[in-house]
Amino acid sequence: MTSSPQVAVVTGGGSGLGAALCNLFAGKGFAVAALDIDGDAAARTATEVAEAHGVASTSARVDVGDAASVAAGAEHVRATLGGCDVLCANVGVQQFGAVDALTEQDWQWLLNVNVGGSVRTVREFLPMIRERGGFRRIVLTASSSVLAPSVRLAGYQTTKFAVMGFGETLRLELAAEGIGVTVLFPGGMMTRHLESSAAARPADLGESVLRQEDLEAMLASAPMGDGDLATAEHAIRNLWADLEADEPYCLTHGSHRPVWQQRRDAIDAAFDRMERS
Ligand SMILES: NC(=O)c1ccc[n+]([C@@H]2O[C@H](COP(=O)([O-])OP(=O)(O)OC[C@H]3O[C@@H](n4cnc5c(N)ncnc54)[C@H](O)[C@@H]3O)[C@@H](O)[C@H]2O)c1
Repeated sequence: MTSSPQVAVVTGGGSGLGAALCNLFAGKGFAVAALDIDGDAAARTATEVAEAHGVASTSARVDVGDAASVAAGAEHVRATLGGCDVLCANVGVQQFGAVDALTEQDWQWLLNVNVGGSVRTVREFLPMIRERGGFRRIVLTASSSVLAPSVRLAGYQTTKFAVMGFGETLRLELAAEGIGVTVLFPGGMMTRHLESSAAARPADLGESVLRQEDLEAMLASAPMGDGDLATAEHAIRNLWADLEADEPYCLTHGSHRPVWQQRRDAIDAAFDRMERS
């Protein structure tokens, strides 16, 4: 009797990092579910990974901004692939803007998709993960901007700090069950992030406005150097090893370490002042 394969579920699986994650897990022999608000893109990924790696796959149109849609996606995965061993809550949308220019609708969208979407995804799939034994992992996609924030990204960065906070609590809560949680901090990647974000924004929240001056201000505050932009495939070259080792964090590429160290040193200095007082 052959045992059924382990299953990896990836939200935002239709493009960029999500598609690369689907490919990574298919290459390790996992059956793969690609979920995306763009159902055609998700279906393409599912077909590609099945053809390339000879694994079972499925796809579904899932909007992580909508609880019922995520619940339906989970039911679809259970019905088609029978469960979930590795879950990647990978969707995040982008909206640039100065803090006094981001609108109520911008915040609603960013918080609902990036934070609410990660929470909903975990909530709907965790019961299936708990039913399995052995290697079980949850990957939450944050961003290198949590390590090295820059201007004009307050909305996005706030949500990615929240993803990290959620992941850290989840890791503590699931440790005793042997379910590892890893927060992934991608640096800049050559993906369709800006276009697909704009396309995914609900019409009732108005268009996603991209101003050149925001991009320029952001790049001026955090200049990009060699190696700061990579393919999604390159970005996740160490992820599998980090998951096997159950590491809490996976970094991908980029030159943001000095900024992180300045922040870490400033917190350490604040500890010193506190302890001296
Ligand atoms: N591209 C970068 O430079 C970069 C850097 C750091 C972090 N990230 C993060 O990586 C993750 C993946 O982004 P990417 O760069 O691969 O972008 P991408 O646009 O190539 O892929 C994102 C996918 O998410 C889907 N999506 C958008 N809203 C959705 C929703 N409400 N429900 C379900 N699916 C939805 C899109 O249709 C798209 O297929 C995101 O969390 C992003 O914030 C990207």
